Amino acid sequence: MTTTNVGLIGLGTVGSGVAKIIMEEAEILAQKLGHDIKLAKVCVRDLNSPRNFSPPAGILTTNPEEIVGQPDIPVVVELMGGLEPARTLVLKALTSGQHVVTANKALLAVHGREIFAKAAETGREIKFEAAVAGAIPVIRTLKEGLPANRIQSISGILNGTTNHILTRMTRDGLTFQDALAEAQESGYAEADPTNDVEGFDAAHKLVLLTALAYGVLPQLADFHVEGITRLEPDDFSSAAEFGFVIKLLATSALDPGGRLEIRLHPAMLPAKHLMAGVSGVMNAVMIRGHACGDIFLSGAGAGMMPTASAVVGDIIETSRDLQPGAAPQVPALGWKHLQSWAVRPQDEIRLRYFLRFTVVDKPGVLSAISGILGKHSISIAQVIQKGSGPKRGGVTLVMLTHEAGEKNLQTALAETDKLDVLTAPTRLIRVENLT
Ligand code: NAP
Ligand code: HSE
Repeated sequence: MTTTNVGLIGLGTVGSGVAKIIMEEAEILAQKLGHDIKLAKVCVRDLNSPRNFSPPAGILTTNPEEIVGQPDIPVVVELMGGLEPARTLVLKALTSGQHVVTANKALLAVHGREIFAKAAETGREIKFEAAVAGAIPVIRTLKEGLPANRIQSISGILNGTTNHILTRMTRDGLTFQDALAEAQESGYAEADPTNDVEGFDAAHKLVLLTALAYGVLPQLADFHVEGITRLEPDDFSSAAEFGFVIKLLATSALDPGGRLEIRLHPAMLPAKHLMAGVSGVMNAVMIRGHACGDIFLSGAGAGMMPTASAVVGDIIETSRDLQPGAAPQVPALGWKHLQSWAVRPQDEIRLRYFLRFTVVDKPGVLSAISGILGKHSISIAQVIQKGSGPKRGGVTLVMLTHEAGEKNLQTALAETDKLDVLTAPTRLIRVENLT
C-alpha cells in the first residue's frame, strides 16, 4: 500500500483535531482510500506549549523548513493562521511542487490572487474547505456540485462567535458587552474578538464564497462591512415586535444589471425563515442557482473537530489526486481564469430599513422626522413609540420603511440627526426578505 506523507504547520485548536483524526482514524481512512495517510512532520512555535493532542515527540519541530520544500512531503497543511509567515510558506510550498491545504481565510482573502496564481502556475493544488463555515462542505458544493449553475445569490451566517452572541441577545436580552464576556468565558470568543465582532472574519469568508460563485476576488475595501458592536437590547425587542430576528448576514448576489452586490452587516430576517433559526455557534449558507434553485446548508462553523473534519477531507482529496491515474484536478476556485464584474456601490442598493430614533417626547417630533423621510422618497410602513420612561435622555421611536434607496436613506438620516429633538444617534438595521 502506498503512503502519502503530510506535513502539518500549526498544532493549535484545528491542527490538534487534524492530527487526532489522521492518527486515530488511520485504519478506516486506509480502508476508504486504499492507501495510507501519514503525519510525517508537525511544526509548532513552542515545543512546550500545552496541547489538546500530542503526536509522537519525534515528529515535532519548530522549523517549518523541515516541511516546506521537502520532496518526501507532498502535502503541506497550513494551520498556523495569520498573514506572515503563512503567505511566504504557502508560496514556497507551491513553488517547491507541494500541494497545500489551509483553513486560513484571512490569508486567502487578502493574498488569494497571488496564491491561486502560483498554484495555477505550478500545477499544484490549494484546498481550503475549512476556511469557510467550518465543517459545512460549501466550497466543494459550489465548485464541484453546482458548476452547471449561474449562481444568483449566496447568503449566509459565516461566523460562529457572533451568531452565539446574537442568539444570547435575542433569547435572553443580554447586552452586547455581557454576551461577549460570556462567550469569552466559555471559550467561544477569542481574547481579542475584533475580527469576529467587527465582521472581518465573516467578510473574509464572503470574499471566498464570492470567488467560487462568480470567479472574482473582491477586497474588503470594495464592499460594506459592519459588525455587531452597536446593537442594543432595544433592537432585538423591536425586531421581535416586527416579526424579525437579527443576524450577521453575508450577502453576495447578482443585481438585475449584472453587477455584484456584496455586503456584510447585521440584518433583520423574517423570524420564520430557516436562516433565522440558525442559532448558537452554528453557521449556514443559502445558495440560489438558476438551475438548482435554493440549497440550504447548515452545520458547525468552528471548533476543533468540525474544522478538522473539513481539513482532513481536503487532505484525503489531495492524496487521492496524487495516486497514479487520478483525474486532473479542478481549478482551485472552480474557474480557469478570474472574471471581472463591476461591484454595485452600497449607495445604490434598495432594501427595507429598520430605524431607531431617540427623541424628546413632545408634539410635532414624529411629523418632523416623517417630513424629512418623505422629502427623500422614503415611505414609512410601520411606527411604534415605546411608551416606557425616557431612555438615553429621550423616548424610543422605531420605524420600518418600505423599500428605499440606501443613498436617499443616508441623506435623510444626516438631516434628521440635525434635529434638536434627537437625544442620541439614530440606529439603522437593514431588513432582508430572504424569500
Ligand atoms: P491556534 O489555536 O492559535 O493554533 C496556531 C498553531 O500554529 C499553534 O500550534 C502555534 O504553535 C502554531 N504557530 C503559530 N505561529 C507559528 C510560527 N510562526 N511557526 C510555527 N508554528 C506557529 O489557531 P487555530 O484556531 O487552530 O486556527 C488555525 C487556522 O485555522 C487559522 O487560520 C484560523 O483562522 C483557521 N480556522 C480556525 C477555526 C477554529 O475554530 N479555531 C475554524 C476555521 C478556521 P504553538 O502551539 O506552539 O503556539
Ligand atoms: N472565529 C471564527 C468563528 C472561527 O467564530 O466563526 C471560524 O472561522
